[in-house]
Amino acid sequence: MTQAEIKAIIAQMTLEEKACMCSGADFWHTEAIERLGVPATMVSDGPHGLRKQDDKGDHLGVNESIKAVCFPAGCATAASWNTDLIKGMGKTLANECQAEGVSVILGPALNIKRSPVCGRNFEYYSEDPLVAGRMAGALIAGVQSDGVGTSAKHFLANNQETRRMTCSSNIDERTLREIYLGAFEGAVKEGNPWTIMASYNRVNGVHATESKEYLTDVLRGEWGFDGYVMSDWGAVNDRVAELKAGMDLEMPSSNGENDKLIVEAVKNGTLDESVVDTAVERILTIAYRFEENRRTDAVWDLDADHETARKIAEETMVLLKNDGILPLTADKKIAFIGQYASKPRFQGGGSSHINCRKVTSAMDAVSEYGSVAYAQGFSDKADVIDEAMMAEAVKTASEAEVAVLFVGLPDLIESEGFDRKDMKMPKNQLALIDAVCEVQKNVVIVLHNGAPIEMPWINKVSGVLEAYLSGEACGGAVVDILFGKVNPSAKLPETFPVKYEDNPSYLSFPGERNEVNYTEGVFVGYRYYDKKKMDVLFPFGFGLSYTEFEYSNLKVSASSIKDTDTVTVSVDVKNVGSVAGKEVVQLYVNDVESYVLRPINELRDFCKIELQPGEVKTVTFTLGKRAFAYFNTTLHDWHVESGDFMIRIGKSSRDIVLEAPIYVESTVRVPVKYSLDSAVCDIQEDPQAYEIAAPYIKVDLLEQQNDDEESSASEAISKDMVEAMIKYLPLRGMLNFSDGKVTREDLMELIEKLNNI
Ligand code: BGC
Repeated sequence: MTQAEIKAIIAQMTLEEKACMCSGADFWHTEAIERLGVPATMVSDGPHGLRKQDDKGDHLGVNESIKAVCFPAGCATAASWNTDLIKGMGKTLANECQAEGVSVILGPALNIKRSPVCGRNFEYYSEDPLVAGRMAGALIAGVQSDGVGTSAKHFLANNQETRRMTCSSNIDERTLREIYLGAFEGAVKEGNPWTIMASYNRVNGVHATESKEYLTDVLRGEWGFDGYVMSDWGAVNDRVAELKAGMDLEMPSSNGENDKLIVEAVKNGTLDESVVDTAVERILTIAYRFEENRRTDAVWDLDADHETARKIAEETMVLLKNDGILPLTADKKIAFIGQYASKPRFQGGGSSHINCRKVTSAMDAVSEYGSVAYAQGFSDKADVIDEAMMAEAVKTASEAEVAVLFVGLPDLIESEGFDRKDMKMPKNQLALIDAVCEVQKNVVIVLHNGAPIEMPWINKVSGVLEAYLSGEACGGAVVDILFGKVNPSAKLPETFPVKYEDNPSYLSFPGERNEVNYTEGVFVGYRYYDKKKMDVLFPFGFGLSYTEFEYSNLKVSASSIKDTDTVTVSVDVKNVGSVAGKEVVQLYVNDVESYVLRPINELRDFCKIELQPGEVKTVTFTLGKRAFAYFNTTLHDWHVESGDFMIRIGKSSRDIVLEAPIYVESTVRVPVKYSLDSAVCDIQEDPQAYEIAAPYIKVDLLEQQNDDEESSASEAISKDMVEAMIKYLPLRGMLNFSDGKVTREDLMELIEKLNNI
């Protein structure tokens, strides 16, 4: 259907019909208009499986949905750092949507993990905007390649569950651009989602659903988004203001209540009817796009998709510790201990909850390798120590040569709708680990959780596998990694701090009443821990393998570039171990010296490669201006400060293996309004300005000190002190300290020159 044809249909609609098109028909459908042949379309959660509700709808996963396949959640898929893999997962999801007639799957969810205790972190990707945007972009591209839409959510700055429907995320412009908008910018530019979901919260006081600045100016104007924006379920606040801001579709239906407001506003002249037409056109464009790509003969096979989920899960589990205990060998007497060995926790609670037909636990899958002993050890239904279960677990562990403990976080403390109170594991599980470690020195921990936890037991155990919430087929992937059939290749897309209090948002999360001030600014996750040189439990980007990789031959195509140029970076990676493996090559940029406060390392590119033993591959990256830039709030644009940068190749943000310098010259001058109050150091920021100003900077102090080197007063005055005095002196200070060498007239002349560069 062409835009002209869609416009022609809209021209035949009554105002009431158009208003009605701007909200859902029910919980999951858009409106149909039979007399004009306009079809209803269905949307469904998302993001890591199909939560299609044929009967009673809800947005918290309370009522039944169809039987479907649960793929690894966002926390896990991000850990794969494998965009092709996630694209493939998107394709599988799209096929399920085609078979079920779902036009848009509600995901990916890509909010930044500002705090490790956000209840929904298990659905989200990363603390880093590049990883979040790129993984989301991959899922979007995969789904949409089969003619099904996605809804990148929750736009914008919905980083907590506490008061999520009313609180205001108060964030400065630079931080918004670099971190929170940054993730969505990547997803939109890489994946071009058919729809965006506007979040519940406010951003700097304005409802995200009502923000013309973000929904229209940035999203459509700057990034080229051309689909429709829908509200999160129940996020509508002021329907007319929202339409004007670019929020096209209200979900779910408000039973005509808000449609009436639209009609009224058009009639009383406060809303231009063309705004309604535009929203309807966007909604219809996507509806027809799906209709035209519809494969009514699509079929899906739950068993085949279960196997796909297992393959994906293999790359989502991070090996955090291995003192040589892994991989296990089947000739050992092994015990699997903990409820999650037989009943894994593989997904989170809330709107993403999938009604699985089949779940494979580690106990189910381990039969491929022989038999293991089992003891439940704890129940995750309540945090109480069950003495009988504990005793059985201790006995089982003591009789084995290796105990593998399957622990993590229960649904009770990790879910949509509320945030965790801290980063602690339940007490009954901590007690179990302690008790098992008392009787068994060979302990491996397998973690089933959607976000970082504290690990007070880390030094007592020999191995840790972070299995995250990796979908219904996780058990097969866990045992394949434990026994070495699969070489782990996932890396943490987030830092695991030593303790919750170390997190930069700790003091301002979840805010006071309805206000959350993002006081840490751009220093989210590793950007903070690295800058503070803090000890962390496991750094961003970290993950072990059963093989070793050696990096060499870092080449940068130029030693000096302008910010309008690009530069090519290449590095050789060799598998120096004895098994095949996959490595995530991470490229960070460090601004060596800057006037603006910046993180030490910022991830600017990454790539996952597979290497056979002895094999070498060359990885190439191309960097442009954005790799060196920060967001300048005077220019309201990305800007590079001229100077030296380091290009760093790392195995994690804390394990930089190679680095090379590059000089980047800015082609843009940041305009500055100089005055008598401008300090010398402000002028020094701009070499051109400083050249003009230098002859006017005459301070008697320095000369006096030189004349008087012998005096005791002079001995107490260091060169640094004098230099600092001059640096921080405002221009007006020349009148007092130049011994009459600089006059007011001179200064006015200088300011005139500086302001006219
Ligand atoms: C969630 C969305 C979800 C929607 C529909 C909301 O509560 O925030 O992520 O897509 O419900 O279930």
